[in-house]
Amino acid sequence: MASFPMNAGDGLYSYSKNSHLQKEIIDGVKEMVRDVIIRKLDIKTILSSSNTIHITELGCSVGPNTFSSMQHIVEALKDKYLYQDQLIDSTKSIPEFQIFFNDQVTNDFNTLFCLLPVDRSYYASGVPGSFHGRLFPSRSIHFAHCSTSIHWLSKIPKELLEKNSPAWNKGLIDYVGASNVEIVNAYVAQFERDMEMFFNARAEEIVPGGMMVLVSPFLGYVRLLGFFWF
Ligand SMILES: C[S@@+](CC[C@H](N)C(=O)[O-])C[C@H]1O[C@@H](n2cnc3c(N)ncnc32)[C@H](O)[C@@H]1O
Repeated sequence: MASFPMNAGDGLYSYSKNSHLQKEIIDGVKEMVRDVIIRKLDIKTILSSSNTIHITELGCSVGPNTFSSMQHIVEALKDKYLYQDQLIDSTKSIPEFQIFFNDQVTNDFNTLFCLLPVDRSYYASGVPGSFHGRLFPSRSIHFAHCSTSIHWLSKIPKELLEKNSPAWNKGLIDYVGASNVEIVNAYVAQFERDMEMFFNARAEEIVPGGMMVLVSPFLGYVRLLGFFWF
C-alpha cells in the first residue's frame, strides 16, 4: 500500500522545521490530556502485572512535536503515580517508561532517532507499519496517543478515480467545494472503514484499564479530542 511520509531530514522544507501548526494543537490540548490522566487513568490496574509503562505514539513523524507530547505524557503519568495513587506498594520504585514511536515504514526514522532528547526519561523504540493494522502483541500497551494523524486515509477511495462513477473527483485530492455529495460520501465511507480497523487493532493491543488519546484537527481550528478507556 502506498504511503506518503512527511518531508524527511531537518532541512528548510522538512516536517521537523515546518510543523508549528501541529505543535499548536499539541500545546492546546496539553492540560486536557494531563487532566484526564490524573482524573481517570487506573494506574493501579495497569501496573498490576509490570513496573514498566508501555506507551505508543501513533503517527509520530520525525519530531520534535512527538517528543514534546511524550515528555508531557510521561510527566503526567509520573505525577499520577507519585501524588494521586500513593503507592501501590511502597517497596516498588517509580515505573519505567518504554515509548514505541510508530509511523509508516517510509517515515524518516533515522532523523527521529537522531533528534531524540538526550535527557529523556524513557526508553525509545521504533515501530514501523500502518496503525490501521496490528502493531503490537495482545494486551501489551498501557497508553496510546495519536495527534493530527488519524485523519489520514489508508487509500484513495477507488470510485473517486473512476471517470464513469458519480463520485469521480476529476483528479482533485480533497472534497473542498465538491460538486456532488457522492464525493464527500466516498471519503466518509473510507474514513469509517479505516477507523474500524484502527479501533479493532487497538482493542486487542491495549491492556484492560489502559487509555488512548486521539487528537485531531476539525474544521481548521476547532480541536476534536477523544479519550478511550479499555
Ligand atoms: C501531520 S503528521 C503528525 C506527526 C506528529 N504526530 C505531530 O504531531 O507532529 C501525520 C503523521 O501520520 C503518519 N501516518 C499517516 N497514516 C499513518 C498510518 N496508517 N500508520 C502510521 N502512521 C501514519 C504520517 O506518515 C505522518 O508522519
